[in-house]
Amino acid sequence: MSTVQINDRSVTLEELEQDVWKRLEKGAISYKDALHNPVVANVNTHGVNMRTVILRKVWLLHKQLAFYTDTRSGKWNELAKQNNISWLFYDAANCTQIRLSGDVTLHHDDSIAAASWDATTMNNRRNYSGEERPSSVIEFPLSGLPAAFETNDPTSEDSLNGRKNFGVVITKVQWMEWLWLNNSGHRRATFTYLEDGSFTANWLIP
Ligand SMILES: Cc1cc2nc3c(=O)[nH]c(=O)nc-3n(C[C@H](O)[C@H](O)[C@H](O)COP(=O)(O)O)c2cc1C
Repeated sequence: MSTVQINDRSVTLEELEQDVWKRLEKGAISYKDALHNPVVANVNTHGVNMRTVILRKVWLLHKQLAFYTDTRSGKWNELAKQNNISWLFYDAANCTQIRLSGDVTLHHDDSIAAASWDATTMNNRRNYSGEERPSSVIEFPLSGLPAAFETNDPTSEDSLNGRKNFGVVITKVQWMEWLWLNNSGHRRATFTYLEDGSFTANWLIP
């Protein structure tokens, strides 16, 4: 059987691949979506490092995903040295796990970062406005933000100071896996991408 029955739909591997990317695209748009806060993992000199991020953008055609971060952060510097990353999503309501991996490109001083910065809210821009770099050791528990930004979003002009610390991490997906937990037997599929976005796909024993 070369299709999976999801509710009342019979889905081929090709349709499933499209469905997963559409789910990811939706996850990037809505902050309430189950796929909005994935975990990304990379390897540093101590081992594996994971953290939650916000899925910011999905490019369906190019099989790319993006999150934003501070260019002074640990992850940015780690990814600059070793650019492979893994993403983990779990949609509990739909009993679906999605895993992805690929190589990243880091965007700071280019048109991609500029366009992303332009699209960010003032509330989000606050996160890049701290004088001390993220992970700096401090004596008291502080946010590191300018005091005024703790209670009010910056004005557009005041937010500009954060631009120099703002970066976009884009993953070109090379591998994707879908796992669906189901009472009458779980289902699993894997997709391996070539540079042009074409892919090979297989069902797997879950
Ligand atoms: C719900 C949630 C969303 C987050 N989103 C981001 C994000 O989009 N970008 C980011 O750099 N950190 C984000 N963080 C913070 C990271 O998980 C992490 O604590 C921080 O970036 C430091 O990671 P690092 O030391 O590995 O760089 C988020 C945390 C949570 C709990």
